[in-house]
Amino acid sequence: MLTIALSKGRILDDTLPLLAAAGIEPTENPEKSRKLIIPTTQDDVQLLIVRATDVPTYVEHGAADLGVAGKDVLMEYGGQGLYEPLDLQIANCKLMTAGKVGAPEPKGRLRVATKFVNVAKRYYAEQGRQVDVIKLYGSMELAPLVGLADKIIDVVDTGNTLRANGLEPQELIAHISSRLIVNKASMKMQHGRIQALIETLRGAVEARHQS
Ligand code: ATP
Ligand code: PRP
Repeated sequence: MLTIALSKGRILDDTLPLLAAAGIEPTENPEKSRKLIIPTTQDDVQLLIVRATDVPTYVEHGAADLGVAGKDVLMEYGGQGLYEPLDLQIANCKLMTAGKVGAPEPKGRLRVATKFVNVAKRYYAEQGRQVDVIKLYGSMELAPLVGLADKIIDVVDTGNTLRANGLEPQELIAHISSRLIVNKASMKMQHGRIQALIETLRGAVEARHQS
């Protein structure tokens, strides 16, 4: 059995057409089903539906052979425990710092609210800047508005969420897209099969960008 971990929402929406190119289609709609293990049109391929931030955990521990995760999630997860053989060029966005429009740069210690705690610590350490990182699980945009933090680190696409909350994007930390990730042992044990799937997906990604 080949097990692929995906998260509901934009990653599932954008990955299913790529998997379909490899002849892998869920036999029921994962967005609607309450099931967390979804069979596919290939008897020996199944999908696991997990939270976006949990995809690397399932794959590193071998509970899934493959997965699709945002580069932001992978940067935060860290470690050397996964192969990352293919940029699927989906769920494209930018990981950025943001703050209140026109707010002066605070002197001294900066308070940064984010769910990307490890990324934040690394980013400011590289700049030699002293920061207090405040872990949040969502609605980061609120933090500067209510004085919880000076800045946030979050993903930005259109910038609409920042604008709607009187914030502006500031520094670019990384361009983000979603990546196919592979368990290291699975890559060895099922090399031919996984390599063939990677190549089919690579073709589907290229075809999507040429059309
Ligand atoms: P969870 O539901 O576990 O909290 P999440 O809300 O980050 O996770 P999604 O919103 O589905 O999950 O995002 C999945 C991935 O898509 C993110 O890791 C990021 O790489 C990318 N992404 C997030 N927001 C956007 C956006 N507005 N536009 C484009 N890509 C995005
Ligand atoms: C993400 C992210 C931002 C927003 C950025 O949230 O945490 O809040 O998208 O996108 P924007 O720059 O286009 O406004 P979430 O996944 O909750 O947002 P979405 O599903 O509404 O895109």
